[in-house]
Amino acid sequence: MPCIRIAAAGDLHADLRVRARIDDAFGHVDGAADVVLLAGDLTAHGEPHEMEVVVEACARLNVPVYSVLGNHDYHADKVDELTTILEQAGVVVLERSWETPSINGVTLGIAGTKGFVGGFPGSTLPDFGEPLLREVYAETGKDVAALDRALEEIDECPLRVVLLHYSPTMSTLVGEPESIWTYLGTNRLDGPIQKHRPDLVLHGHAHAGTFAGAIGTVPVYNVAVHVMRRDFFVFELDTDAPDGHGAHLEATV
Ligand SMILES: [Fe+2]
Ligand SMILES: [Fe+2]
Repeated sequence: MPCIRIAAAGDLHADLRVRARIDDAFGHVDGAADVVLLAGDLTAHGEPHEMEVVVEACARLNVPVYSVLGNHDYHADKVDELTTILEQAGVVVLERSWETPSINGVTLGIAGTKGFVGGFPGSTLPDFGEPLLREVYAETGKDVAALDRALEEIDECPLRVVLLHYSPTMSTLVGEPESIWTYLGTNRLDGPIQKHRPDLVLHGHAHAGTFAGAIGTVPVYNVAVHVMRRDFFVFELDTDAPDGHGAHLEATV
């Protein structure tokens, strides 16, 4: 039965102080996974020298790496530079986009985008009022549309994963103060997920949230390292799973 081992982590918040730990973590994941997915906030403050710490660690891997960026990676307004650093190291950066690599002879569809704020029932940011607020609403709308398009494009792939930084569900935010949930993600992102029902959804950002959640029958995991309390978690996706929703927790690194 063809399966793919996905090592996932978010919120590395790399800087020079944690270089040794990150280097060690990536060293351990090589050989334990077929592909690595990074769920954003790779850097502490979005500085290029911090991203160099990440790519030096990625150089230890012999498997492909896909990543979205997080809000910390945007902080210094150097996203283009950071993206170039990642791409030159062979890391594929997903932003309102998708990829369909062949891994272990299986096509893995990866729909990825940072996502954005917007809130959840009871705390939603409306499309109303000041232009700046409506701009935030519209920006999230672009992510929702892009995620829908990406999932449409990978619909035929036997295994499909969504990679986000912000959360598309409240179920993985439990533990965070409810007063900040509006800034941790939005259920507007769950529309495309409910429609296309991928095998697995991964996100980060909510450092004090909950590891395992769901959108309907679709498993969602908050892979922020602070939540996992480990450097990576390995998910095994199985193409022979009964209903096509084949995410199994197999191993940790
Ligand atoms: Fe973070
Ligand atoms: Fe974040």
